[in-house]
Amino acid sequence: MEKVVVNIAYLLSASLFIFGLKNLSHPRTAVRGNLLGASGMLIAVLVTLIDKRIVDFKLIIAGLIIGGLIGTLLALKVQMTAMPQLVAVFNGLGGGASAMVAGSAFFESELSSLSADFLTATVASAIIGSVTFFGSGVAFGKLQGLINERPMRYPGDQLLKLTVGAVTLLTGYMIITAPEFSILYWVILIFGGFLGILLTISIGGADMPVVIALLNSYSGLAASATGFVLENTALIISGSLVGASGIILTNLMCKAMNRSLLNVLFGGFGEVAQTKDDIYEGKVKSTSPEEVALLLESARRVVIVPGYGMAVAQAQFPVRDLFNYLTERGVEVDFAIHPVAGRMPGHMNVLLAEVDIPYDRMKELDQINPYFEQTDVSIVIGANDVVNPLAETDPKSPIAGMPVLQVWKSKTVIVIKRSLSPGFAGIPNPLFAMDNTLMLFSDAKKAVEEILRSLKEQ
Ligand code: TAP
Repeated sequence: MEKVVVNIAYLLSASLFIFGLKNLSHPRTAVRGNLLGASGMLIAVLVTLIDKRIVDFKLIIAGLIIGGLIGTLLALKVQMTAMPQLVAVFNGLGGGASAMVAGSAFFESELSSLSADFLTATVASAIIGSVTFFGSGVAFGKLQGLINERPMRYPGDQLLKLTVGAVTLLTGYMIITAPEFSILYWVILIFGGFLGILLTISIGGADMPVVIALLNSYSGLAASATGFVLENTALIISGSLVGASGIILTNLMCKAMNRSLLNVLFGGFGEVAQTKDDIYEGKVKSTSPEEVALLLESARRVVIVPGYGMAVAQAQFPVRDLFNYLTERGVEVDFAIHPVAGRMPGHMNVLLAEVDIPYDRMKELDQINPYFEQTDVSIVIGANDVVNPLAETDPKSPIAGMPVLQVWKSKTVIVIKRSLSPGFAGIPNPLFAMDNTLMLFSDAKKAVEEILRSLKEQ
């Protein structure tokens, strides 16, 4: 009877995960999606507590309190701009926990009771979990600026990755065929960890979003493998959902960057780029909020391109006011949203939805690019890599081949940022030196507020 209740509850939580994911696919329903997913997880956790023989509730309660506290504090404190790092930490901990749980199930089982299925799932969990844990650690370090963000390349790097991968798999095979050598479990964790570090350290620049999505998928696969070890249906389903959605997201990110997954994993491309002196020397023109206001006064079609700097400056509120001011005066204003603008998928959509910009004004790259030629003024607010023409012109650049927003086709381009510093990919941007570009050097929030003030005073 208890088994039936447990399975029905797991089915319910799996359905909640699936409906949650469906709702998460649109900003309008995302909050509901999150709640549905969290409710599904709560049910799964509660039911697991009655399902299994609990050795000691004290440790579980202590874990819940400590983990809950850390999670709440992180959620409250972490800035939106540091989300990718947080996701990297979550992925890593998920992968590490899966490997540890599978390992403890392996070590506490009687040797005679170990089936090939159990051992295969345990090995899968150990390899994927440890690749995820250590790979996510490196990704966190890169995103946080603790380790050099550039892809680390050295002679024979691909061969080393393949060799370590092969040794890890071989050790896994050995433990499946000879589980009495249980010490090999630790060897798998060490080699898997080394592989995770090698795979992630060779990736950098604009490819980091792809890596984060992929590590997210790995953490799901590790959890799913542990689900097979524990014969826990909820863990198998939720892990598979995370694994599958992570792979779909990875694929979408690869498409957005015009890269294949193999190219991201083994490419580590583009350390060479033109120097900033070649590009900017004597060609950059700066402007003032008053001059931008004058240009906007006579514009009929305006495109706003938000980027990471808008998130840092929290400029979405004055941007909304500027949007309202211009649209009330009959100007056609659209937002051009690049799929990897900011630091996480959907970053710009979330910020703009927060300030109630209508969804039909947010245009995707393919939709908006043909319209730049008919645009009077494009205002780039804290974006850099996503409007860098080098992606189209310099095959050696770290963003070569990534589709970009072709703002330079507008009559006038205003770029709001504080300096000529590069963006995430670390490369200069010839857009800043183009004839029709004016640079407004300022914090994004302050600049937009001043433009609005000037418009109102005119
Ligand atoms: P970036 O290329 O990173 O450029 C952001 C620009 O914002 C910087 O050049 C910076 O210039 C400016 N900025 C920072 N603070 C500012 C402030 N307070 N006011 C005004 N400007 C400010 O941003 P992007 O164009 O959005 O491109 C995103 C990049 O991040 C891509 O390379 C992408 O691959 C990568 N990435 C994306 C994701 C996802 S999933 N979206 C995840 C990880 C990495 P100043 O310092 O001169 O002001």
